[in-house]
Amino acid sequence: MYSEKVMDHFQNPRNVGEIENAAGVGTVGNAKCGDIMRIYLDIDENQIIRDVKFKTFGCGAAVATSSMATEMVKGKSIQEAMQITNKAVAEALDGLPPVKMHCSLLAEEAIHAALWDYAEKNHITIEGLKKPKSDIHEGEEEENEEY
Ligand code: FES
Repeated sequence: MYSEKVMDHFQNPRNVGEIENAAGVGTVGNAKCGDIMRIYLDIDENQIIRDVKFKTFGCGAAVATSSMATEMVKGKSIQEAMQITNKAVAEALDGLPPVKMHCSLLAEEAIHAALWDYAEKNHITIEGLKKPKSDIHEGEEEENEEY
């Protein structure tokens, strides 16, 4: 059910760890499954993402998407990083099972949260960036889940 790329990034995740004195740090969670993700960004004076690391308490799909997402933002400008959506990350992994798509949101939201932290510290505005949510389901419509 998982693509080879997903399995590869799950088993050998890239960019795991943390960055001391990171330019931006973002932490988000998924209250439904309890998974948590933290992203650290090292951003140079030209607003290029020099390095990125992540840590997660998450499922396999969350690990694989974070690994791929960190690879995709590394070396990019902050504007380019803003364009990287969870769908683009899932496509780069040759797809995710539909029930696991929400897991890929953790990586996107954590990157946005880290960019938000960077923007606040540097008193700048990043176009299109919204205040991060602490939970990826925050503000969602009431769901019709059956109990
Ligand atoms: Fe929680 Fe995948 S089940 S992020």
